[in-house]
Amino acid sequence: MKMKRYNRLSPSILAADFNILGEQIAMVKEGGAKFLHFDVMDGLFVPSISFGIPVLESIRKKTDLFLDVHLMIEDPIRYVNTFADAGADLINVHYEACKDIPATLAAIRKTGKKVGITIKPKTPVSVLKDYIDDVDLILMMSVEPGFGGQKFIPETMDRLRELRGLLSEKKNPPLLEVDGGITLDNVAEVLEAGADTIVAGSAVFRGDITENVKAFQKILLGR
Ligand code: DX5
Ligand code: ZN
Repeated sequence: MKMKRYNRLSPSILAADFNILGEQIAMVKEGGAKFLHFDVMDGLFVPSISFGIPVLESIRKKTDLFLDVHLMIEDPIRYVNTFADAGADLINVHYEACKDIPATLAAIRKTGKKVGITIKPKTPVSVLKDYIDDVDLILMMSVEPGFGGQKFIPETMDRLRELRGLLSEKKNPPLLEVDGGITLDNVAEVLEAGADTIVAGSAVFRGDITENVKAFQKILLGR
């Protein structure tokens, strides 16, 4: 079943304080978030190494938030079943990292989890055309993947409009998520350009987490 389209926030725990990760996830939930963004980096597809399977398992045991897993790893089909078993609700793979995209998307589908595809800022939007019908969510990067706390790339706005145009031809389009450099100051514009699912790391975890989430929710839900 397709996921219902409405504006949502997916706080990225890459910016969390890992000493007190459980407490911080509880704060995100208290603020009203329903998704949690989980960034996996392998040191190959991107230069950094973040966290992986045991951390996901541990979070899964303690939260009912929808776990939106962003795999920044080479040849991700190798790990689809492992991340599904570890508790992901959605598995997102990079277009640029897959050797066989249809096989990778089908492998995710087979696990019963939601299916996502991601493109980097320099990858043409048109490459997604062949996959729109096979995914539940498309993630458009608004920074080069690999690090939190970067500046939003302004060209993303036009790319979002282009993708929303493609999606508007569909009866049941996938969600359109954006990731990187999103703040309370630019989120309204990002929504306006066509996004419905917003990843935010630093803008959520720096300062008062619950209040930050509430402030995002206010803009996202328009109240
Ligand atoms: C970057 C990650 C992002 C990152 C976003 O490679 O995919 O999810 O955590 O962090 P901010 O919101 O700080 O740009
Ligand atoms: Zn991410």
